[in-house]
Amino acid sequence: MSVSKETKKVTTHTLQRMKAAGEKISMITAYDFSFARIFDQAGIDVILVGDSASNVMAGHETTLPITLEQMIYHASSVIRAVNRCLVVVDLPFGSFQSNSEIALASAIRIMKETGAHAVKLEGGEEEIDSVKRIVSAGIPVMGHLGLTPQSIYKFGTYNVRAKEEAEANKLKKDAQLLEEAGCFGIVLEKIPAVLAKEVSESLTIPTIGIGAGGFCNGQVLVMHDMLGINTEFKPRFLRQYLNLYEQVTGAVQHYVADIKSQDFPNENESY
Ligand code: KIV
Repeated sequence: MSVSKETKKVTTHTLQRMKAAGEKISMITAYDFSFARIFDQAGIDVILVGDSASNVMAGHETTLPITLEQMIYHASSVIRAVNRCLVVVDLPFGSFQSNSEIALASAIRIMKETGAHAVKLEGGEEEIDSVKRIVSAGIPVMGHLGLTPQSIYKFGTYNVRAKEEAEANKLKKDAQLLEEAGCFGIVLEKIPAVLAKEVSESLTIPTIGIGAGGFCNGQVLVMHDMLGINTEFKPRFLRQYLNLYEQVTGAVQHYVADIKSQDFPNENESY
């Protein structure tokens, strides 16, 4: 039997065992009660309440505007739906950067006010003090390296990161430092598959890839992308499992037509 089936609630220790057993970890983003319930019951291991909520829920161009309060609202909704998954919540831009005291206070608010199980933060060496401080308060931390969207204005594009040797070396060092600082896992976003393989093999903690190839210990996608709610975002790494945009459009057009034609509601749908 797989590790994930025999374990009732997924914990950070479960993920560690899954890596050791060679079982891949499934992770998806969610931001509300209804989808989180579906994902939990469908067998997902980890739900990420990502700051991508800033894009897909609020319609912002970047992840920078979302606030800690808004992340707490989304995470609380997700937590109410979940029985089995591990729920990880992003520390949003401005709630942790380069200040371990603020980082700890933000992480504590997330844990206390949402009931989430862990936090995630973007960055390597420059955030190590924050990671150590949060971990020593008993809060599990997931790292995030590679394309870190909170730094989009530094990068200038959403292109693949760490293709050059210097950036790849920094990423490898950052991954090592995050593991030593106590992270229970690291998201690797949009980096070459060979680099993700090397990092995954060099760490004892699991790596979760998005646009980082098949050698990571798990995979994550943004729910709106994999369900085809977003139609305009089609990067090479994305596998779209549904075209919900088309299906919802068809259903809503049908509903409108039924109202206009007075087909809805019929006698059985009336009191
Ligand atoms: O915010 C998010 O959805 C993320 C994933 C892309 C990993 O950080």
